[in-house]
Amino acid sequence: MNGPAAAPHYALDARQRAVRVVENVCLARDTFRIRLECPTIAERAVPGQFVMLRLAGSNDPLLARPLALYDTVIGPQGRSVAIDIVYLVVGKMTRRLSMLGAGAELDIWGPLGNGFAAEPIEHLLMVAGGIGQTPFMALAREYLGQRAYGSPPRSGARAQRVTLCYGARSASYLAGVDDFRDLGVDVRVSTDDGSAGHRGFVTDLMREALEASARNCRIVCCGPEPMMHAVAELAARFDVACQVSLETPMACGIGICFSCVARVRDAQGGWDYRRTCVEGPVFDARAIEF
Ligand SMILES: Cc1cc2nc3c(=O)[nH]c(=O)nc-3n(C[C@H](O)[C@H](O)[C@H](O)COP(=O)(O)OP(=O)(O)OC[C@H]3O[C@@H](n4cnc5c(N)ncnc54)[C@H](O)[C@@H]3O)c2cc1C
Ligand code: FES
Repeated sequence: MNGPAAAPHYALDARQRAVRVVENVCLARDTFRIRLECPTIAERAVPGQFVMLRLAGSNDPLLARPLALYDTVIGPQGRSVAIDIVYLVVGKMTRRLSMLGAGAELDIWGPLGNGFAAEPIEHLLMVAGGIGQTPFMALAREYLGQRAYGSPPRSGARAQRVTLCYGARSASYLAGVDDFRDLGVDVRVSTDDGSAGHRGFVTDLMREALEASARNCRIVCCGPEPMMHAVAELAARFDVACQVSLETPMACGIGICFSCVARVRDAQGGWDYRRTCVEGPVFDARAIEF
């Protein structure tokens, strides 16, 4: 497609499926990991992509919700058979999702969006706020050479070191920390109330990491917008490349409704509205008008 509505990620590889819940387990306060049996989506998805999820046979809530790929699950034949999603209960959809057990049915379409870059780097520095750690599990596994993602599997994603700076309200909201550590990720935690790790902002941890060494480093970031803004400014100050994954609310996920727009700068120094679902959700941090 050409013209102003053209976008590089028009869900061309996405599939819509009715899928079954394999399990739905509590990881932390108000935080769950749901496993969905959907080989077609699992084998196509790459880190940083998302799916749209809707309750089957219900119009309440009417609209699907976007949720990031946490990881894929490998079956006995060595192929991706399921996807994991980690979600925080904040409203109607996530509350209902938290009540589903094995065997429940959901409507899903994906994988959607662009995903994070797959380019070699010495140090991948992941910065997450709140539930923003969810796109980083698969990314860390990929960059540490433990699994390939996509069909055909994408290559080029390699790092000698992967660090996760992870900020949450309190210790009870931290989800998946041991799983990241088991992969070999250097996890550094901050909490608002000091109940785990550093008391203060996650950007304090990020600054510390960059002061130790900002050479051959790339930052990926996901979380609340003010936090991503602060991370983008800090990355620019240290002259380190930074990708942010935006969490703008979405209705269709495939470029039709324009409900997901963000202000993105153009090469001339101006800006225009861009659809996060088909031109993101991952953007160069320098391009975002926060
Ligand atoms: C690409 C992408 C990936 C995402 N991945 C995840 C994920 O992996 N895990 C996860 O828990 N959430 C994720 N989200 C956010 C998730 O889609 C929303 O939290 C979702 O709307 C929750 O649905 P709900 O019906 O429970 O809450 P809603 O009823 O939709 O909203 C409840 C409250 O949260 C606010 N809200 C809703 N969406 C957002 C948002 N995007 N930013 C700020 N406030 C919001 C609403 O204004 C309302 O106050 C992602 C969003 C995007 C765009
Ligand atoms: S969510 Fe509909 S255009 Fe992006």
